[in-house]
Amino acid sequence: MSSVRAFVGQPAADIETPALVIDLDAMERNLTRMAEFAKAHRVRLRPHAKTHKCAALARLQMAAGAVGVCVQKVDEAEALAAAGIGDIYLSNEVIDPIKLQRVATLAGRIRLAIAVDSALGVERLAAALAHAGTRADVFVEIDVGHGRCGIAPVAAGALAHQVVSNGLAFAGLQAYHGRAQHLRGAAEREAVIRHAVGLARAAQASVSAAGLECRLVTGAGTGTFVHEAASGLYGEIQPGSYLFLDRDYADNEPSAGAPRFEHALFVKAQVMSRGVSHAVVDAGHKSHAIDSGLPKVWQRDLDFANGGDEHGILRTRAGSAAVLPELGDAVWLVPGHCDPTVNLHDHYVGVRGGLTAGVVETIWPIEARGGVR
Ligand SMILES: Cc1ncc(COP(=O)(O)O)c(C=O)c1O
Repeated sequence: MSSVRAFVGQPAADIETPALVIDLDAMERNLTRMAEFAKAHRVRLRPHAKTHKCAALARLQMAAGAVGVCVQKVDEAEALAAAGIGDIYLSNEVIDPIKLQRVATLAGRIRLAIAVDSALGVERLAAALAHAGTRADVFVEIDVGHGRCGIAPVAAGALAHQVVSNGLAFAGLQAYHGRAQHLRGAAEREAVIRHAVGLARAAQASVSAAGLECRLVTGAGTGTFVHEAASGLYGEIQPGSYLFLDRDYADNEPSAGAPRFEHALFVKAQVMSRGVSHAVVDAGHKSHAIDSGLPKVWQRDLDFANGGDEHGILRTRAGSAAVLPELGDAVWLVPGHCDPTVNLHDHYVGVRGGLTAGVVETIWPIEARGGVR
């Protein structure tokens, strides 16, 4: 069921709950700060659209200077391409020949790039592209310490050589360290990325030794992009969550030199039941993801406890003078993790002028919502 129960011009106070709401003013400040950072540091910005899954937001990012967007799934690439996004990097491996047919077809419609980390992946990609008569840029993914996808850096040259000998366009290296993003300490994140940069340099040397040119090293997320940008090695950064800044990212100690980002994504909830020492809101973990912890209650000294699929339980924080909200009151939740929260909703309700006094300015479909294939 896809329904939107908000309309342009409606006071934010009247938006039916639970609703996924963007504070447009805050989101635009985040968008601009990242675009300015990338420009000042002379790195290309290719934001990760796995965060927002929305063509309107991808368009805003590209209008602010992004060269295109990343996605993680073929479904996401197809949905954004169908909505008019023309430059997409699938920063992930695809091994299934049926999915690769979809990739090859899409490559005939937009500028497409894709990551590989196996000889089989290269062979199957080459076969699919040859069959469709299309082309894509190919990035060899190396493991820079995350322990997920990617080959050993010293093996990069051999796989890049395989890419070229299969008639494909070798475009560079994918070097992303996901776990580093969420390390709380700024110094800790810097140390992990210093090590990752060393590994990426070794991979680049391996590519040169294979007689190939590594035109671009791409990677980085919201927690570490300052370090990749400062490395002199990465030519492109891929942050996604900066646009919304979820609770988990706000818990990181800020990195020196990073722009200041603000919470811009909220789940609006309403108090539906009230006890003496607690209040119950109508948003549980079917409205916000809890894989990175529970939401934060925005601008109120209240603790949020998990009340199940459809309920959240609010209590005043020990020692605080806060009072519990009354029946019918609105409560704004900052999700623990933005990406999977977005994936629970069909639309964004964009509010201009603040969450309490503002007005609905736009409603955007989340075209790639649920796109996991
Ligand atoms: C390959 C890749 N690049 C970039 C990102 C963006 O990370 P973030 O949303 O933490 O900025 C992710 C997120 O998981 C990713 O997997």
